[in-house]
Amino acid sequence: MPACEGNALAISRGHSFLKILAGLCGRLSAEQTENSLTDELLKWRSEFPILDRAVYLISHSLGAMPRATYDRLQEYADIWATRGVRAWAEGWWDMPVTVGNDVGRIIGAEPGTVVMHQNVSICQSLILSCFLPLPKDSKRTRIVYSELNFPSVMYVYEAHAREHGLRIEMVKSDDGMTVPLERMLSAIDEETLLVPISHVLYKSAFLQDAKAITKRAHEVGARVILDTYQSAGTVPFSVRELNVDFATGGSVKWLCGGPGAGYLYVRPDLIDQLEPKTTGWMAHESPFAFETEMHYAPNITRFLHGSPAIPALYAAESGYRIINEIGVEAIREKSMRQTGALIELAEATGFRVTSPKNPEQRGGTITVWDDNAAAITKELIRREFIVDYRPGAGVRISPHFYTKDEELDLVISEMKTIRETRAYAAHERVGAAF
Ligand SMILES: Cc1ncc(COP(=O)(O)O)c(C=O)c1O
Repeated sequence: MPACEGNALAISRGHSFLKILAGLCGRLSAEQTENSLTDELLKWRSEFPILDRAVYLISHSLGAMPRATYDRLQEYADIWATRGVRAWAEGWWDMPVTVGNDVGRIIGAEPGTVVMHQNVSICQSLILSCFLPLPKDSKRTRIVYSELNFPSVMYVYEAHAREHGLRIEMVKSDDGMTVPLERMLSAIDEETLLVPISHVLYKSAFLQDAKAITKRAHEVGARVILDTYQSAGTVPFSVRELNVDFATGGSVKWLCGGPGAGYLYVRPDLIDQLEPKTTGWMAHESPFAFETEMHYAPNITRFLHGSPAIPALYAAESGYRIINEIGVEAIREKSMRQTGALIELAEATGFRVTSPKNPEQRGGTITVWDDNAAAITKELIRREFIVDYRPGAGVRISPHFYTKDEELDLVISEMKTIRETRAYAAHERVGAAF
């Protein structure tokens, strides 16, 4: 692939994105031109306003907002303004389940097994609350996860460990990027209660073998909580096929749904066996009876809580619609091609790639190391190349279904220019910006 040097000097804050692309004209390989012409998914670009303004390669953090989200939020406001309190009975009350069904299609869950919540952290607390306090003299007290779990998830278990006698087994990584499967499997034993793991690790995009981990957990009677935040919408999977007990994720990233729309899947046969103690009136079998005692609903709504974040659910739906229309298989096919191309480009330019090289072992993100990666990231963002940085991993770069091949060239050549010209120097002593 050709390098696209020299663009950086032409780019300053406020420069039109079209000028950036213009600098690339005439330098595309035949293969890239062919891909740009035949890439059906690029037709979606016009649905995402930010793509006209920036090289947007950060869908592992905040996916681009679909244009339709403006209309959905307007619709929410119109309904509130004109229907007032009747809106609850006309759809709002059921939205945690109806919207959950849309997410269910993406993660392979059957209707009525997913509910919407605000975020993953609350879903983890809610699941854990089903198992606490532990039965007296219970030997099943271990919580097994890797040290590369998303930190917020670890905080939930840590916070309850001492008071409830839980023992946390944190499986070590050798390289800070991957988790050895054998080590994970052998950590799960007859005393294990829960295995809350990430499907794709946030830091390195390492894809864990959720099926093997679940099989092992079930052999010894433990339950698996799969965090699918970094896989849903970019890696095809089915919670049913993986046979996980619970799955939870959010909509901020690959689902292009924005903040406040987390989801919780519960395996159908477990639903009526569990009684979350983190609960509220929406989990009651007849919330509008306003009874003084809790009687859990006989379905997935027993995993609800208090009043739902309706605007967030409106905002999230347009992303799910697009992902469902394209299909995650097609997204993955393109992602594999583009992440592979990014690895080639980065290595050809002398950068070290820290995310897994084997496409079967990674999600949709590539991480690229440089000793000045944090400062380079700041300078990239200043130049309208939107990526982020994680300590130990480097610059995180994520193409999504709306990414052009040219943008991969652009970001790597920009990194090269920033490195060579030491334009990052102004940002030394920085950490992650977001
Ligand atoms: C794997 C994973 N889990 C969870 C989260 C976020 O959790 P929450 O929804 O509680 O903010 C992230 C966000 O970066 C993530 O990457």
